[in-house]
Amino acid sequence: MKEVLKELERRHAAARIGGGEKRIEQQHAKGKLTARERLEVFLDEGSFEEFGMFVEHRSSGFGMEKTKISGDGVVTGWGTVNGRTVFVFAKDFTVFGGSLSEAHAEKIMKIQDMALRNRSPIIGFYDAGGARIQEGVAALGGYAEIFQRNVLASGVIPQISVIMGPCAGGDVYSPAMTDFIFMVRDRSYMFVTGPDVVKTVTNETVTAEELGGARVHTTKSSIADGAYDNDVEALLQMRRLIDFLPASNTSEIPQIESHAPVEDMDRSLDRLVPPNANQPYDIKEAILKTTDEGDFFEIQESFAKNIVTGFGRVEGRSVGFVANQPMVLAGVLDSDASRKAARFVRFCDCFNIPLVTFVDVPGFLPGTGQEYGGLIKHGAKLLFAYAEATTPKITVITRKAFGGAYDVMASKHLRGDVNYAWPTAQIAVMGAKGAVEIIFRKDINDAEKIAAHTRDYESRFLSPFAAAERGYVDEVIMPRSTRRRIARALQMLRNKDLHNPWKKHDNIPL
Ligand code: HXC
Repeated sequence: MKEVLKELERRHAAARIGGGEKRIEQQHAKGKLTARERLEVFLDEGSFEEFGMFVEHRSSGFGMEKTKISGDGVVTGWGTVNGRTVFVFAKDFTVFGGSLSEAHAEKIMKIQDMALRNRSPIIGFYDAGGARIQEGVAALGGYAEIFQRNVLASGVIPQISVIMGPCAGGDVYSPAMTDFIFMVRDRSYMFVTGPDVVKTVTNETVTAEELGGARVHTTKSSIADGAYDNDVEALLQMRRLIDFLPASNTSEIPQIESHAPVEDMDRSLDRLVPPNANQPYDIKEAILKTTDEGDFFEIQESFAKNIVTGFGRVEGRSVGFVANQPMVLAGVLDSDASRKAARFVRFCDCFNIPLVTFVDVPGFLPGTGQEYGGLIKHGAKLLFAYAEATTPKITVITRKAFGGAYDVMASKHLRGDVNYAWPTAQIAVMGAKGAVEIIFRKDINDAEKIAAHTRDYESRFLSPFAAAERGYVDEVIMPRSTRRRIARALQMLRNKDLHNPWKKHDNIPL
């Protein structure tokens, strides 16, 4: 019996060391943790239950039959984050460069199936060289099986991908179908084909960082939702993100203890909107003064900064915030901002996370650049996302709500549940100057008349009261009371019951 126990210990030790001490040292020398070290940081201490530790590949040829390593390049299992169950897989770069074999794929599939069946989030940590080249079609089939599971789990359980090293070829498409992708700066990159192939096919000379580093994917392509300076920071931030997310689309929103009473009024909000309508201000101040303890987890912070998206809490419960940002392009809606916000709105709706929308938008961005780039379709994505969303929707118009952008930003007409406006709100088809120049074109050379028309237009439309008179705005509120009003609205909406007509699925303009 003793010998059997010893054999188990020996096997455990061999599996834990993965590709060996030398490769672990190389991993550390690159500033990266190993797969097991990453799981140790990410999960609650001692909570990891590993599955498939002894799985080995089954391939032969190219000398593979002589090189079998327990675990086969991926560490899989489940554990807890602040006591809540999560399923995990972490690619082990020290074993065949973390490349995916048939057996390696089966380990991930097993975890995907368990996460879905047990309705808990799944998080994948990537550091790998794509399909195991020696395995050919068996590896390709393995990828497709994983992709299929990503799609079936989409909208049922949260799926998160963290890119912590190379991520190429087949490895990029599974993350691309998950809800969020995060990267580590300077040591992770994602691309379909690497710099060598790019050089051969297009004759472009480009480094891995230039082609698919964190900077590119957080600022240009918008593939990644955020980036961190090192492994530990990324892992700790993922723990923070998990705390905001329900376990599944039928689970309750997590409730975290809050020590910030919603009755406390922040009078500085009364002065947030400057007297000059063209002067910018930081809408994040309104978000931070609405959330518990000013805690806000921003999504896509470095992309399309003219719209802000992210998670916060009110009275301990998660809320998704969407806000036009007057500091960037006056908060205008362009294609990138529309796509960014649409995806966030849909995520929140999938998991019944209430949406709070702060509106200060001068309209959609005009111009050939935008129109040729498909602004109509991209803008429609955000419109579609808000209109189909059945999760509680609370809107606060702080200043401008002009034109189509008024409609889009969770207006009453798109089934907004509670629509508030600050007294500084201006709700109109367009700003006064543009409006007067169109409807009083004949007076364009008479400065006095134009000034009188402008005053008339401003007093009629550039206030929240025309909209409030029609009931499009439920109440004009004091800015200082925003957090309390939102908290009360969220309480009232806890049992909201709204369903869209049955359909196989909708056809959002992609
Ligand atoms: C088998 C692989 C491998 C792979 C790396 N290794 N990638 N083994 N299949 N795909 C092995 C290496 O042979 C090496 O083994 C060890 O992992 C470490 O790799 P290095 O090259 O020494 O590391 P580094 O210099 O850091 O470079 C990492 C890398 C590079 C950039 C990821 O290894 C690389 O370019 N790999 C191939 C990437 C690729 O083209 N993959 C296939 C994509 S096609 P030893 O024993 O020497 O230490 C694909 C199609 C799927 O994925 C499509 C589905 C939709």
